Amino acid sequence: MDMDTLFEAAWQVAHNSYSPYSRFRVGAALLAEDGSLITGTNVENRSYGLSICAERGAVMAAVSQGKKRFIALAIAAPDADYPVGPCGACRQVLSEFMDSAAPVRFGGRGAERVNTTIGELLPHDSLYELGDK
Ligand code: THU
Repeated sequence: MDMDTLFEAAWQVAHNSYSPYSRFRVGAALLAEDGSLITGTNVENRSYGLSICAERGAVMAAVSQGKKRFIALAIAAPDADYPVGPCGACRQVLSEFMDSAAPVRFGGRGAERVNTTIGELLPHDSLYELGDK
């Protein structure tokens, strides 16, 4: 599966977002190493701090389905004019299940896309340096 297809899946799932407080929809699509695609969207709560990002939602769904290695990630933020990258907490959680070289693409409603890797998003991660990945 190419990154265009993965980004399109993230874009579609963003429309399922439950984000009445921020009005900021986000979708995430993970490509598992078996070739399957798992998506997630942000789910907010009136107790704001309980809100879950799209990326972590996708990881929780995937692991629940028995998928624990991801080879690519796309994030779509259709309410943003700019590409929206994952928050720090999500970078940490994603790095648990992805190699540092795994490609990541993110974008908003404009044409700009950022193409990067988990390792660039979370440099000097302890697990990479320990050689455990
Ligand atoms: N959000 C995500 O789901 N992923 C990101 O990468 C950035 C932020 C969500 C959290 C919150 O529901 C809303 O976007 C506004 O921050």
